[in-house]
Amino acid sequence: MPHLIAPSILAADFANLQREIEMINTSDADWVHVDVMDGVFVPNISMGLPVVEAIKRHAKKPLDVHLMIVQPEKFVEAFHKAGAEIISVHIEACPHLHRNLQQIKALGCKAGVAVNPHTPIAELSEVIQDIDLICLMSVNPGFGGQRFIERTYDKVKELKRLILDRNTKTLIEIDGGVNQQNAKLSLDAGADVLVARNFVFSSPNPKEVIARLKTANR
Ligand code: DX5
Ligand code: ZN
Repeated sequence: MPHLIAPSILAADFANLQREIEMINTSDADWVHVDVMDGVFVPNISMGLPVVEAIKRHAKKPLDVHLMIVQPEKFVEAFHKAGAEIISVHIEACPHLHRNLQQIKALGCKAGVAVNPHTPIAELSEVIQDIDLICLMSVNPGFGGQRFIERTYDKVKELKRLILDRNTKTLIEIDGGVNQQNAKLSLDAGADVLVARNFVFSSPNPKEVIARLKTANR
């Protein structure tokens, strides 16, 4: 399967949301990555349900919603109704992760688990067969524009071994500090999906950056 690109809308100019989404619609991007922060699980607040609904009204690509919030079980149904196709919850915020995943799947969404840099891959071993997407954080969540943590490559390889070992179809997504160089190395290590905010939106030509990321493994 060719790898997927999910630009993070967190970077968008919120006063011109429609224009930014239109750019993603007409680019080589596969998903729209939506970063939801609650100011509790992470030290920052981003957007909530009304903004996700507004994104959904214009987006022609699936919404990949990354919930950086505590007690996500209270909100997954609302995010599904707001238009999320893929919902990721943080393993560090979920003492009952297996239950959270069943809840997301029962809504008809793809179930994702986001994993902070300090969390060992081994913590996923008992639940990997229930996960559609693992969002491996390559920065500490909360802010865009941070530096990619190099240790991520080893985690991708370890996770890929676990996925092959258990024969699951789980996708590996890399989130944070992605650029052209580490995109290639991440893909070589086994990543399937690349999230990018700063690298895409700081460019005068975001579509071209997305197109380059789409061929980063060549
Ligand atoms: C970090 C978010 C990321 C972030 C990526 O808390 O989960 O999705 O927007 O931004 P860059 O690509 O700028 O690191
Ligand atoms: Zn994210």
